[in-house]
Amino acid sequence: MTAEPHPIRIERVAESRAGGLDLASIPFSSVFSDHMLVAEFADGRWGEPVIQPYGAFLLPPNISALQYGISVFEGLKANRGPEGEVFLFRPRENAARLNRSAARLALPEVPEAMFLHGLRELIRIDQAWIPAGDAGSLYVRPCVFSIDESVRVKPAERCLFIIFTFPFGSYYSAPVDVLVTEQYVRAFAGGTGAVKPAGNYAPALIADREAQAAGCGTVMWLDGQEHRYVEECGVMNVFFVIEDGAARRVITPELSGTILPGVTRDSVLTLLCDMKVLAEERKIAIDEVVELHRAGRLMECFGTGTAATLSHIQRIRYRGEDLVLPAVEARTIGPAVRERLVAVATGRAPDTHGWLDRI
Ligand SMILES: Cc1ncc(COP(=O)(O)O)c(C=O)c1O
Repeated sequence: MTAEPHPIRIERVAESRAGGLDLASIPFSSVFSDHMLVAEFADGRWGEPVIQPYGAFLLPPNISALQYGISVFEGLKANRGPEGEVFLFRPRENAARLNRSAARLALPEVPEAMFLHGLRELIRIDQAWIPAGDAGSLYVRPCVFSIDESVRVKPAERCLFIIFTFPFGSYYSAPVDVLVTEQYVRAFAGGTGAVKPAGNYAPALIADREAQAAGCGTVMWLDGQEHRYVEECGVMNVFFVIEDGAARRVITPELSGTILPGVTRDSVLTLLCDMKVLAEERKIAIDEVVELHRAGRLMECFGTGTAATLSHIQRIRYRGEDLVLPAVEARTIGPAVRERLVAVATGRAPDTHGWLDRI
């Protein structure tokens, strides 16, 4: 994979903080790597990106990112292969989605070559922060936000593109319970559900709080118009596995314009195809989910996303009733596709789809 070299200024820390840390046991988002990348957009063009020590910014209180949420972000991972090699997983997908998000908020796009080259340099410099073996990953957070000093609501003229990273240990994410919310919606036609502005996430917190009050980990979102069709689960795409005669097949909501096109979702669909498992992308009504469960045909449900890769859903709470799903040990599709995905992302299985970007 090639990217036009983009000049980058590098200011290194005197001494890395990574030495002596047990990277594989660091909880998600708690210790941040030595460096971050920062580039500023002003006068209609991007300036030279700088890789500098990770640290706080001094920014005025009136910037549009703070006042109006003019901010978009991405999330991807770097992993180590069996020989200690470093791989980014499908970074071009994140570059493209970042730019779709930026365009939706009238922010300037980041040239793909600048994104990829800056990202690779940052990962190369901070590679000591990537947990060894398959014991964990380095999470990568690119972000673009307006630093216009103005309380006028207007498209950004000055903004920052930043990337920072942090290590976390691979965790076995315990199966989650989800509450189907009919009170709140995540996204609606013509809105921003298919992209990643910061503003998509704060309004979901109250729904999550409601889910927690009902003893669940997160919410299952329905469509914003009819409150009928399943869209996503928390910050994950969602898949159902149903029994179809002797076989099992998979259904995931089709990308409707209000669902985030997850990179993990796309990867899982591709791997299911490799595994010769029939997977349908179509509308799925919550009533159909209830019916399938009642008929004993709902065998698995799982969410997918970069951070957790694949989380099994064990209970779906809807209108005061619990749809309890078979134990994870009895599942065949979710565990198998998760294992394949992790094996490819960590260089332990052949990268037949060209997903890995080796640093
Ligand atoms: C709302 C939402 N859905 C789904 C996903 C999963 O996307 P991906 O697989 O690209 O991480 C995310 C995470 O980015 C998300 O925020």
